[in-house]
Amino acid sequence: MKFIVTKNYEEMSKAGADIIIEQIKSKSSSVLGLATGGTPVGMYKHLVEAYNKGLDFSKIVTFNLDEYVGLKPDNPQSYRYYMDKNLFNNVNINKDNIHIPSGISGNIDKECEEYDESISKMGGIDLQVLGIGRNGHIGFNEPGDTLKVKTHVAKLSQNTIKANSRFFNKIEDVPTSAVTMGLGSIMKSKKILLLASGSSKAQAIAKIAEPIIDLKVPASLLQLHPNVVVILDEGAASMLNLK
Ligand code: PGA
Repeated sequence: MKFIVTKNYEEMSKAGADIIIEQIKSKSSSVLGLATGGTPVGMYKHLVEAYNKGLDFSKIVTFNLDEYVGLKPDNPQSYRYYMDKNLFNNVNINKDNIHIPSGISGNIDKECEEYDESISKMGGIDLQVLGIGRNGHIGFNEPGDTLKVKTHVAKLSQNTIKANSRFFNKIEDVPTSAVTMGLGSIMKSKKILLLASGSSKAQAIAKIAEPIIDLKVPASLLQLHPNVVVILDEGAASMLNLK
């Protein structure tokens, strides 16, 4: 796992975007795994800027990590809406190449199975972008006694509901479950880019730098992956003790 500490959110965003731009330049048909949340917004801005300067997204294929159960794609809190607003509507991606789990499917189990199958059919994910929860979750793979390998419906922890309530009018509006890629799809990605900003993430980041796999910190599993880059700002790195 390679840790890169940048000065602030803006530098973290730029460094993250540069890795994706490099990936797209080296393989124009790259399969990208994408994340939502507050952290990658700045990174997406840089990608849109790169598009405006000529970067081509026309052959790019994307798979998003997760979607809230019960939210329609046109709901401003849905991750589909977020992705359209922050990236997809602003670059020349082919809409047929976009994959985001549906939170309103009539048969969610089948949909989860098909999601994993379509990732495999595309040859797997070349570069997976991740944020990290304050509790160490990745996607909505929450701390627990076990971790799921495949795409599944996850119950959100109270900690996550509280953290995500900042995007909703009131905490009761936060969906209590989500469709999320499992640890298998994430770990099978050829390269992983994890971004974290702010001191609220410092403890989780410190934990993933310890050589211990702790199921109470799902992101600690990333230590078993051969190609992970973690880009932090000073706040997120503030408890990091790199030997
Ligand atoms: P955030 O979420 O970027 O909004 O902090 C990250 C996450 O919960 O994975």
